[in-house]
Amino acid sequence: MTGTITRRDFLKATGAAMTGVAVPAAGLCAAPGEAGQGAGRAGNGSGLLAISLNVNGAERRIEIEAQMTLAEVLRGPLDMTGTKVGCDRGACSACTVWVDRVPVASCMMLAVDVGERKVVTIEGLARGEELHPVQAAFIAHDAMQCGFCTPGLVMSCAALVESKPNPSIEEIKDAISGHLCRCGSYPHVFAAAMDAAKTLKG
Ligand code: FES
Ligand code: FES
Repeated sequence: MTGTITRRDFLKATGAAMTGVAVPAAGLCAAPGEAGQGAGRAGNGSGLLAISLNVNGAERRIEIEAQMTLAEVLRGPLDMTGTKVGCDRGACSACTVWVDRVPVASCMMLAVDVGERKVVTIEGLARGEELHPVQAAFIAHDAMQCGFCTPGLVMSCAALVESKPNPSIEEIKDAISGHLCRCGSYPHVFAAAMDAAKTLKG
């Protein structure tokens, strides 16, 4: 529609401006006072920014365009395609990852704003061959159909059961309230999250 500025337009415009000047220490998507802003990044004269990201416990050094979202960096330069992008505008939560153990929509966070915070993706949830209890419970309860929304749902459910040993069904519903599943797997997701919480408690 003429005259409408999308989030993508905004990021592109601001990213282009940012590559021409020193990247400001305060990020576009960051709340004021967040730790780690501006850490581990430097321009290299090519228009790309060299940044360091801690993902799934490993320090990764990469060169990115300033306007790239965390989701784009994970799925692109870092080749971690477990994180899915559904809407790319903060409406579906398919792209949920942890940043310092808090579930965030990675399509709504610029990678340069992650700073020194630790990112965990669906690829980093299992311990070697041992699935996270939420992953195991999703399989046991058949909590997916097409699976597109599943990585994001698993990340939010895992954050909940790790922080709340005995969540109520209302707390589970609240924790995944931003997640859209067009296959309608919600009842199975609730059951899986309850089950995983019991496993973790045990
Ligand atoms: S892809 Fe990020 S919220 Fe939909
Ligand atoms: S399982 Fe298909 S969108 Fe959720």
